[in-house]
Amino acid sequence: MDHLSLIHKPIRKELEDFVSFFNNALSHNDGLLSQVLEHIRNRGGKRMRPILILLITKSFGSVTSVAQHAAVGLELLHTASLVHDDVVDESGERRGQASVNASYNNKVAVLVGDYILSTALLNMALTDASDIVRDLAELGRTLSNGEILQLTNISNSRISEEVYFQVIRQKTAALFESCAVIGAKAGGAETQLIEEARIFGRNIGIIFQIRDDIFDYFDSKEIGKPTGNDMAEGKLTLPVIYALNSTKDEEMLSLARKVKARNVSSAEIARLVAFTKANGGIEYAEQRMEECRRLAIDFIEKRVGDSDLQAALTAYVNFIIDRKN
Ligand code: IPE
Ligand code: IPE
Ligand code: MG
Ligand code: MG
Repeated sequence: MDHLSLIHKPIRKELEDFVSFFNNALSHNDGLLSQVLEHIRNRGGKRMRPILILLITKSFGSVTSVAQHAAVGLELLHTASLVHDDVVDESGERRGQASVNASYNNKVAVLVGDYILSTALLNMALTDASDIVRDLAELGRTLSNGEILQLTNISNSRISEEVYFQVIRQKTAALFESCAVIGAKAGGAETQLIEEARIFGRNIGIIFQIRDDIFDYFDSKEIGKPTGNDMAEGKLTLPVIYALNSTKDEEMLSLARKVKARNVSSAEIARLVAFTKANGGIEYAEQRMEECRRLAIDFIEKRVGDSDLQAALTAYVNFIIDRKN
């Protein structure tokens, strides 16, 4: 069986229910808002975050309305953050179609993103579990903090792997951490297990963003969003950070300074990308993903009893490493 069939097998019905709750939450009856929400609904994402909640909940208990409302809330928070992210990154494509800012404009994207964010809060409140509502509120702050750190880091002259990991832990891994924590809580796990689930979610999130950052170094039609954007926006990600720090190549370091000063040409970006590939940057990033994969698999083997759920979570980890979009 392929990764996705294994992932879906133990939660087929729950995931169907999720999609219908989610589409319902993302609907409105009239006006511009209904049009924009329909545009977003038309191209769903991979649903990796709700799938993680459902798999973890089911590993430790059964999927009740608490897990479903939380899954809708977290996927809405993710959706809102993508609508805003494409404004911040001036990106014209998302999920293989025009982004909201490109189809409409920045004002519409900011306002609709806020609407979706509030709908996320509403769905979290429907769980009637105050600690889960608190988790989501904290999460929203962490995600924003990560984005702000990423922005201020552009003008920091240090090229640091440590700051890179700090940014991706906050802007991406925190969301996967919350999925695992909320899933464990909704499934009735005790404190120690919830904390182990948190680390599991963090490792998954780190893998997720490293893979996403590697995408940026290659042209691909499958990915459904622009590549080659990170350096154009001033961002240096793990592969190039590694190549620069391990070679100390003066000429390339001066190009990296131009990236950060936002005055680099596309020919210069192409040279930095070629340099990164020639100096083991991609392999290094893959090695870092592999370390996180090992830790994630250990958790699954130690803590998940049911064999279908073990297979599904293992396939989930492999899918986020092997995925093509
Ligand atoms: C995109 O996340 C944002 C990142 C963390 C890189 P996904 O790749 O999960 O987005 P969708 O929901 O499937 O479009
Ligand atoms: C990922 O941001 C984190 C968020 C979802 C805000 P990126 O800007 O790196 O992700 P993509 O590549 O646009 O999906
Ligand atoms: Mg971004
Ligand atoms: Mg972006």
